[in-house]
Amino acid sequence: MKDQLEKIKKQTLETLAIVGDLSALNELRVKVLGKSGELTAILRGMRDVAPEDRPVVGALVNEVRSAIEEAISAKEKAFKDAALAAKLASESVDVTLPALEIKAGAPNILEKTIEEVEEVFMSMGYDVVDGPEIEQDHFNFELLNIPKGHPARDAQDTFYIEDEKMLLRSQTSPVQARTMLAAGGDKPIRMICPGKTYRRDADDATHSHQFMQIEGLLVDKNISLANLKATFDVVAKKLFGENCQTRFRPSYYQFTEPSVETDVSCFVCKGKGCSLCKNTGWLTISGAGMVHPNVLRNCGYDPNVWSGFAFGFGAERCAMLKYGISDIRKFYMTDLRESANFDRRED
Ligand code: DAH
Repeated sequence: MKDQLEKIKKQTLETLAIVGDLSALNELRVKVLGKSGELTAILRGMRDVAPEDRPVVGALVNEVRSAIEEAISAKEKAFKDAALAAKLASESVDVTLPALEIKAGAPNILEKTIEEVEEVFMSMGYDVVDGPEIEQDHFNFELLNIPKGHPARDAQDTFYIEDEKMLLRSQTSPVQARTMLAAGGDKPIRMICPGKTYRRDADDATHSHQFMQIEGLLVDKNISLANLKATFDVVAKKLFGENCQTRFRPSYYQFTEPSVETDVSCFVCKGKGCSLCKNTGWLTISGAGMVHPNVLRNCGYDPNVWSGFAFGFGAERCAMLKYGISDIRKFYMTDLRESANFDRRED
């Protein structure tokens, strides 16, 4: 029995030396120490050992078992340590590598321009309001003094829905009508409304079937064209610089009387004439005028008591002039390099 034990110990330790992984180690453990393992069989055979020999044999069995158990545990620990070391090595971070560049976005230049305009008007007490992009013909045209069949509609052909009763708004001016009607005809109004507008236009460098306008409306008592001029002057100087000059040219809109085109002096040539201003020295920024009495009346305001002015900026046009952008389509091409070009943050 002693020989058998020595043999088991020797063989087990030899196999242990060449065991390659945890599962082979477990197999060995079962083979030797398991229920039907070699050492267990010997333990069972203790019954047949003469009682006087039992203490010696028993001690030997225990010694062999401990030696094998210890050796197996040591091997198991070695495997686990190696696995952990390999895992740590594979997950290690080289802190000396250069950091990944974090790409910060740049504000969209159109949004930025609109926000600047909003800020100027808010500083003068105007509300910034919203209106629906899918609009009724009634608000987009009729309340604004443009009845069905009127030739002024031709310039604003748009996308119609539902038997021409609904349309994608061709201008933000319907928000004037909505604001006046909501105010109830007895309160002064100061609002601007930036928003998307749509026209059935072929897209080119200066036209897009969808573009942004910034509508404005002021209604109060004793309002004159002088108030419009003063307001436009403040806005132009804020947007284009303190030396910016402004002028009005006569124009025609159905919903204003009189109507004007509002120009700013060209900030590139300072009025001398260049390619941006087509040698006129002036750049047109918006349409504007005194709110037509019919529009005031249509929207619940008595034109004998109330008067007001209105204007409509082309937002892209402002941004294009301010930032020297040559093509309106660039605003919609979602090319991040375009916005990054105009990001004036300090690095
Ligand atoms: N809605 C006009 C357009 O799209 C622009 C405009 C002109 C708006 C004069 C106004 C205004 O409020 O008074 O061409």
